[in-house]
Amino acid sequence: MSEKTPMLSVQDLCKYFHLGRHLELKAVDHVSFDIFQGETVGLVGESGCGKTTTGRAIVKLHEPTSGKILYRGSDIFKQNKAERLEYCGNVQMIFQNPYASLNSRMTVSEIVGEGMKIHGQYSKKQQEDRVLELLQKVGLGRDHMSRFAHEFSGGQRQRIGIARALSVNPEFIVCDEPVSALDVSIQAQVINMLKKLQEELGLTYLFIAHDLSVVRYISDRVIVMYLGGIVEEAPADELYRNPQHPYTKVLLSAIPIADPDKIRSKERIAIKGEIPSPINLGDGCRFADRCPYALERCKSETPQMKELAAGHRAACHLL
Ligand SMILES: Nc1ncnc2c1ncn2[C@@H]1O[C@H](COP(=O)(O)OP(=O)(O)OP(=O)(O)O)[C@@H](O)[C@H]1O
Ligand code: SF4
Ligand SMILES: [Mg+2]
Repeated sequence: MSEKTPMLSVQDLCKYFHLGRHLELKAVDHVSFDIFQGETVGLVGESGCGKTTTGRAIVKLHEPTSGKILYRGSDIFKQNKAERLEYCGNVQMIFQNPYASLNSRMTVSEIVGEGMKIHGQYSKKQQEDRVLELLQKVGLGRDHMSRFAHEFSGGQRQRIGIARALSVNPEFIVCDEPVSALDVSIQAQVINMLKKLQEELGLTYLFIAHDLSVVRYISDRVIVMYLGGIVEEAPADELYRNPQHPYTKVLLSAIPIADPDKIRSKERIAIKGEIPSPINLGDGCRFADRCPYALERCKSETPQMKELAAGHRAACHLL
């Protein structure tokens, strides 16, 4: 693989859900992006914009309606059995809701050790040692091993979910809102832990979050989604310094700032109305109903992605 070949390449991905004879929900609609080895890409947008659906397609929990996902150059939906097993070892997901994603009838040892049974040949003792090593990596210990998931707090459950993902030695992890369900005081701890694990184990992350403040310190690049589509993508510094799409500006203006002088000078952009339904979406810019700058053509013409600078692209008729 050349240095320029992405580790993961999502190409024109569509995932539509059919809810009835004439009802089609476009959860992910013509989404394309690349992720390179060793980087963290933040995927941000309001609830329901298609972040989890994109993540689930990457770990093959969703079959796409159309489009491709290439991993190190090969199509993940055209794998034979051995390739599928290898892929499941290489690419893991940390799930959004730590309360629902762990089986409460299993012990921590069983949860973390489950994937190892499929992906490796470990003796009972080796598996136990490895589970302990993984738990220690995420700040838990031996006395947690025989306890059940429901006995743990949200932050601890997310740590167990992270240990489970790491148990098969992945190189790429989809982190789906790993801290959104947690108290603010615990969020930084978990983000710092993920950052440390990335350095230690050479991991690549797709890091999903609702708001731009959460991904700021962990992302090399940020992708902003709105209603099933990407509206802007840029290197993280560039996106926070020089956002171009009206929706990104709205999201950024919603981030609270500690310094009161900065708050006064910061332009607050009011966002109108509710997120429209993704069911039976028509033509035009998806953001048109809520955009403070919408033009007449925005309602009928879909804006295409434009390259604005190296690695910085956005889809808006004003650009
Ligand atoms: N299995 C499904 N069947 C029908 N619709 C679905 C299904 N999964 C997701 N959707 C719909 O697809 C859209 C995108 O959902 P998704 O979970 O990807 O959003 P999200 O960006 O992860 O939101 P959140 O921030 O709330 O987690 C939503 O409108 C959701 O209701
Ligand atoms: S294309 Fe029009 S509606 Fe869409 S973001 Fe740009 S200005 Fe707003
Ligand atoms: Mg989600």
